[in-house]
Amino acid sequence: MEIKIVDINTKNFDLIPRPADRRYNCQECFFWMGKWDGKLDLVKQKKKWFVKKAGKYGSLGKLLLWGKRQKPVGYIQFGPISEFETVRIFYQDMAPIPRNGWCITCVAVDTNYRGKGLAKRLIRNVLRDLKRRGVRTVDAYPVKKPKSLNQVPCGPTTLFKELSFESVFKVNTNRKIIRDDNLVVRKKLKQ
Ligand SMILES: CC(C)(COP(=O)(O)OP(=O)(O)OC[C@H]1O[C@@H](n2cnc3c(N)ncnc32)[C@H](O)[C@@H]1OP(=O)(O)O)[C@@H](O)C(=O)NCCC(=O)NCCS
Repeated sequence: MEIKIVDINTKNFDLIPRPADRRYNCQECFFWMGKWDGKLDLVKQKKKWFVKKAGKYGSLGKLLLWGKRQKPVGYIQFGPISEFETVRIFYQDMAPIPRNGWCITCVAVDTNYRGKGLAKRLIRNVLRDLKRRGVRTVDAYPVKKPKSLNQVPCGPTTLFKELSFESVFKVNTNRKIIRDDNLVVRKKLKQ
């Protein structure tokens, strides 16, 4: 099967697939991005964010296109930890944020295309790309034993363990946005 992984840009931004859970929309999710002021169209806001950050770091998202028709069925978002206000909360009172550390904030694969190794491909692709960009540390925030994968932005811990990420610490706070089975996992990229 023909599979292509491409950087998100303004032209393909609208192709970011919607995850199965109706409460989430990767095109407008600002959960990981700081302020939600409720005034601006979130999709437009996020698009603007992508353009701005791409100018600084290179693209911070990728799409997985499936088959000859290049159907968009997967999405991954990543970036420097310093760019994600919500992510930084994970570290508070727990561990220092790695200097110049990057993270994967979200992975989503269309329900009909799951179990085919596509999430793994997306993550591997990002790791290769980040290595080229000189990144040394990549963190992610999976959940240990999720009952459903539809409410889990990064997916299950096993997904990252199979790609040799190591557990760093267990996030365990009373903050509303954090599940008590959230882990911080880390991979060091050899330069
Ligand atoms: C998590 C998710 C990305 C996995 O995608 P996927 O393409 O099916 O994953 P893969 O086929 O690459 O699986 C890789 C590994 O993940 C783990 N995994 C995948 N599905 C799993 C499941 N249902 N239960 C436990 N582990 C699972 C396994 O370790 C698997 O490796 P294996 O196939 O060798 O056993 C997908 O379930 C998803 O998109 N969930 C919704 C997440 C979401 O909505 N995010 C955005 C909104 S916040």
